[in-house]
Amino acid sequence: MSARDHKSFVKEKFDRIVRRYELVNSIASICIDKTWRRRLIKSIESLEGPILDLCCGPFTLSLEILKKRPEKIFGLDLSKEMLQYGMAKKSPLLKYIYPLRGDAERLPFKDNTFGIITIAFGFRNLQNRDLALLEFNRVLKKGGSLLILDFSLPKNLLFRKLYLLYLTRYIPLLGGLLTGDKEAYLYLGDSIQKFPPKVMIIKMAENKGFKALKVEELTFGIVTLYHFLKT
Ligand SMILES: C[S@@+](CC[C@H](N)C(=O)[O-])C[C@H]1O[C@@H](n2cnc3c(N)ncnc32)[C@H](O)[C@@H]1O
Repeated sequence: MSARDHKSFVKEKFDRIVRRYELVNSIASICIDKTWRRRLIKSIESLEGPILDLCCGPFTLSLEILKKRPEKIFGLDLSKEMLQYGMAKKSPLLKYIYPLRGDAERLPFKDNTFGIITIAFGFRNLQNRDLALLEFNRVLKKGGSLLILDFSLPKNLLFRKLYLLYLTRYIPLLGGLLTGDKEAYLYLGDSIQKFPPKVMIIKMAENKGFKALKVEELTFGIVTLYHFLKT
């Protein structure tokens, strides 16, 4: 698939599942997804903004951050539908969000603008992650933090086997039933299996001017939280 085709495919999938995106997340993860985002939020508790939340979707993470620290957050996503759905939520915290439709691989910001960049369950979907990391580095201030939260595969082989069954059989069934787009959830399983392992993600980030401050496995390694610093 060409870079353009990949981006259109991803955008089209997220456009289609937007209404039930958060519901499927909650059911599929039995609400554990909230604790993953909370772990990220704890990591940035004492850090200075401004904050850029990339691949923000319907502001799932941005709004959780705002509950802890009500300050201006820039939320950027490729999908207009995701942003519109997020802006239609009934939350007084939306007034702190500056929604932007854009590509995380080509950020519309000046160099050294942000103190914190967050990207929850979005990095895996990017076509050119090297280019994206360069962009993250460019718009972060020196010493600024990049938090990547994304799926990973558990180390324990038996658990991994069971998890993969769950991911490739049950999730597409559930997602398909609730959103009408089974393909989007087949893509999810596929993208998780193709996503590079931790050591490679760390190497990629280090090659683009970051230092790994902390890498934490969550829920038996289903999800990993990376905290990088711009050196
Ligand atoms: C799995 S959702 C994550 C939403 C939210 N961050 C969360 O915590 O649930 C991934 C989002 O990434 C967006 N996305 C995919 N590729 C992108 C790109 N190149 N630039 C910006 N957003 C992108 C999709 O539109 C989608 O809303």
